[in-house]
Amino acid sequence: MPNLFDGAKEEPRIIRREEVLLPEYLPDELMHRDAELQVIADGIKPLVQRKTPENLFIHGCSGSGKTSCVKYVIKQLLDYSSAVLPVYVNCWENSTQLAVYNRIVEEMRLPLPRRGLATDEIFDRILQYVRNYKKPILLILDDMDGLRHDELLYVVSRSNEKGVIFGIVGIANDKTIPARLDLRIRSSLRFSEMEFKPYNEEQLSSILRVRAEAALAPGTYDDRLLNKIAASAEGGSARLALERLWKAAKHAEKAGRPKIMVQDFEDILSLESTFKLPELKLSDEEALILEILKSGPLESSDLYDKFLKKIPKTKRQIRNYIDLLERKSLIVSEELERPGMLNSRMLKLKG
Ligand SMILES: Nc1ncnc2c1ncn2[C@@H]1O[C@H](COP(=O)(O)OP(=O)(O)OP(=O)(O)O)[C@@H](O)[C@H]1O
Ligand SMILES: [Mg+2]
Repeated sequence: MPNLFDGAKEEPRIIRREEVLLPEYLPDELMHRDAELQVIADGIKPLVQRKTPENLFIHGCSGSGKTSCVKYVIKQLLDYSSAVLPVYVNCWENSTQLAVYNRIVEEMRLPLPRRGLATDEIFDRILQYVRNYKKPILLILDDMDGLRHDELLYVVSRSNEKGVIFGIVGIANDKTIPARLDLRIRSSLRFSEMEFKPYNEEQLSSILRVRAEAALAPGTYDDRLLNKIAASAEGGSARLALERLWKAAKHAEKAGRPKIMVQDFEDILSLESTFKLPELKLSDEEALILEILKSGPLESSDLYDKFLKKIPKTKRQIRNYIDLLERKSLIVSEELERPGMLNSRMLKLKG
């Protein structure tokens, strides 16, 4: 029998820098988004002069480059000046007021006792810091769909009246979020809005090409493959296109091929679509959600709590499983209209 580790020392033939194909990777250049990058930068420019900026709400489909563009602008801001403290918060991972404050405290490197401070006390310390150091804060609330309460937005936007400067950039898929906020919050935030349009096939092909050049060995892919992947990405999503390129490359490597063939891509695509069939085996995570909902309808936040006791996942991941189950018509959800609560949904088994 050959050694089980045979080949472990060999350089992978196709993928040279895998991280370049992963969704968290921030490329040096963001293509086709010059206008959007400029709007974001212009919106936050006043902060550099310690003036109140425009609050910005960015919405658009998944994979349209919202997170990357905002992160890119923050990077440029930090290269240019240290007069502003940007705080990036993913609201699926930090969905409460306290969690967001803790993220700000973390970025400020404020020495605070880990326990014993009430939420509003923590915010008072934050205000004190901003006043003392005269450093405005740029709060980036990414995936705002994940924020559970809107009180945070009220408190933060109102602090401008107390001579403390906060800028807010909100990002979400759902463009109706500002309209659903309480009127007093909406009027103190005064969001200006910008949509990120889906990429067209040509734009996706060019994004794929630049990434392939950085990530894959020369001669292991061709334009025909990249164009096919670009054409397949529903909703003009660069995230989906890049994920498919990455999977096709892995597939070809596993098969020991020197080059990614269109067949590799078609194979991984057919695997994807069988996952969408309702009769197919469910993942452990999906099965757990169904199990939890067996005992009756539940609010999404309660479902998250129960789920997290069994399997550690981010809330965003759990939401994705919920969406999958909805698409498979196994569960139904209903939006809950409740003052002060954002995006709470009632979930129940279908039928
Ligand atoms: N204009 C672009 N140029 C190069 N790469 C891009 C561009 N836009 C998006 N990407 C890449 O596509 C992937 C997804 O982008 P990003 O995470 O910014 O999308 P998003 O709009 O925030 O999606 P979601 O709504 O799902 O959070 C990332 O790997 C990113 O590097
Ligand atoms: Mg994003």
